[in-house]
Amino acid sequence: MAVTIRTLLKRKQDGGKFSVLTAYDACFSRLISEAGVEAMLVGDSLGNVMQGQTSTVPVTLEQMVYHTECVARGNQGSLVIADVPFMGAATLERTLEAATALMQAGANVIKVEGSDWLAETVEVLTRNGIPVCAHLGLTPQAVNAMGGYRVQGKDDDGAAALLNAAKTLDAAGTALFVLECVPRELSARITAEVKAPVIGIGAAPECDGQVLVMHDMLGISPGKPARFVKDFMADTGDIRAAFQAYDRAVKDGRFPADEHCF
Ligand code: KIV
Ligand code: NA
Repeated sequence: MAVTIRTLLKRKQDGGKFSVLTAYDACFSRLISEAGVEAMLVGDSLGNVMQGQTSTVPVTLEQMVYHTECVARGNQGSLVIADVPFMGAATLERTLEAATALMQAGANVIKVEGSDWLAETVEVLTRNGIPVCAHLGLTPQAVNAMGGYRVQGKDDDGAAALLNAAKTLDAAGTALFVLECVPRELSARITAEVKAPVIGIGAAPECDGQVLVMHDMLGISPGKPARFVKDFMADTGDIRAAFQAYDRAVKDGRFPADEHCF
């Protein structure tokens, strides 16, 4: 049976975990969904891993639509989440245009980076039948404004603002959250205080789900991996087995470990 946002909500309510990986093409989409990974994110990280860009800023809506179509064709029942690319949430009009195109390309949920100011966006999209995943904490599209890829919510003010944003967006009807590079304790607290399932990356094992960039967890991304990355190919030596090992480690609460958190 196909995974829906209700599947993930019920999992959270039952105290279970779910796994998420990024996917950008039909072939990997098939393998990841066949491995039992509940959701696939067509991330704008495709700018880095597909295009060789140094950030997600250059990624266009047209490119997101193309990769979402590819992933949707290979999908065997996972939930497909697609990223609204850079500047896609600058105005409500732009967000509606991006969300329409991504849903028509085969997404089930759209993801937007931001903070509490996304509340209106969440309300309008949800009212129009589009579930929204709100990406909080380190938001890579804002790398230039943040002055680099840094852990967010480290001081008391930052932590309070992040918790408040999550609660505001939860009340507005957010279907899912992504928390990226947020200290473990704060991530656990946010997960406990919002109704919607929370997907962590560089966050906490207490999150309801975990996500990694596929190329990172296969150990094929260039450069030094981020702290929150684990190479599941190293132990398994096989792509299908790596996806299954990741899925099991997330569901058993073995990933992330302390060494992957901030
Ligand atoms: O684009 C992406 O891959 C993401 C995840 C890392 C959360 O947004
Ligand atoms: Na992204």
